[in-house]
Amino acid sequence: MKRVLITGACSGMGLSATKLFLKKKWSVLMVDINESQGNQLQKEFACDGGQVWFKKCNLTSDADVAALYQYAKKELGGIDSVVNNAGVFVPGTLHETSIEDWDKIFNVDVKSILLTSKYFIPDMIAQKQGTIVNTASVSGLQGDYNMAAYNAAKGAVVNLCRSMALDYGQYNIRVNNVCPSACATPMFLANPQEKINQFNEANPLKRICTPEEVAQAIYFLASDHSASCNGVNLPVSGGIEIYSGQPIQI
Ligand SMILES: NC(=O)c1ccc[n+]([C@@H]2O[C@H](COP(=O)([O-])OP(=O)(O)OC[C@H]3O[C@@H](n4cnc5c(N)ncnc54)[C@H](O)[C@@H]3O)[C@@H](O)[C@H]2O)c1
Repeated sequence: MKRVLITGACSGMGLSATKLFLKKKWSVLMVDINESQGNQLQKEFACDGGQVWFKKCNLTSDADVAALYQYAKKELGGIDSVVNNAGVFVPGTLHETSIEDWDKIFNVDVKSILLTSKYFIPDMIAQKQGTIVNTASVSGLQGDYNMAAYNAAKGAVVNLCRSMALDYGQYNIRVNNVCPSACATPMFLANPQEKINQFNEANPLKRICTPEEVAQAIYFLASDHSASCNGVNLPVSGGIEIYSGQPIQI
């Protein structure tokens, strides 16, 4: 049975991914900062017969991720696949972004990938196998209005994927990203309904994507189904990022 660690597993895409990997009979280590929700979900999924663990972890803390690694070793005997999905979003133009918000976004969205890599990649190198899937965003592929820090952080995740894919391919470790557009998760649904309607309308499919659809892409990239995919930034977006932005030509 394959073992996957999923960060941000208590909500949105991470929760949908957890459900999908359990359905596919993987062992799942749910990781999140939200302890009460994590413990409750773990119990629920275990009652349904899932091989599932929950470990509270602040992914921006080296000590917490070190403890997470020890826990994964002890409870699951190791990890075959890491899904770096946890992330936070703060809007704003660059000159208006506080240092606190900048650090928060970069710590959760980017540094967490460094920390899980620091602890989990050495075993993958020794085993000569592993997969890593990061949740980037179409906001890492293109620019957005009023999203300076988030654009910068997800842009870093987009290129980090390529760098990791090059460095670790020789060890049979594949690294790929999913790049969702606006997605119906608590993070995005916190917007006013009018804003959500605008995002639906702007999408070529006339709707935002669902966390279940993103989970399918994460599963594909983590599993052997994508055996030759490495360094891919896969949009799960309805194609919103392909538009040049020009007005309709008559
Ligand atoms: N929702 C969208 O529209 C959208 C679009 C593109 C990309 N994304 C990205 O997708 C990923 C998942 O987003 P979501 O919408 O499912 O978010 P969400 O807010 O629904 O869930 C994020 C989870 O991460 C956890 N988390 C936050 N900080 C943490 C930390 N320091 N340590 C451990 N856990 C932490 C939260 O507790 C939460 O359970 C994020 O990386 C996000 O940036 C989201």
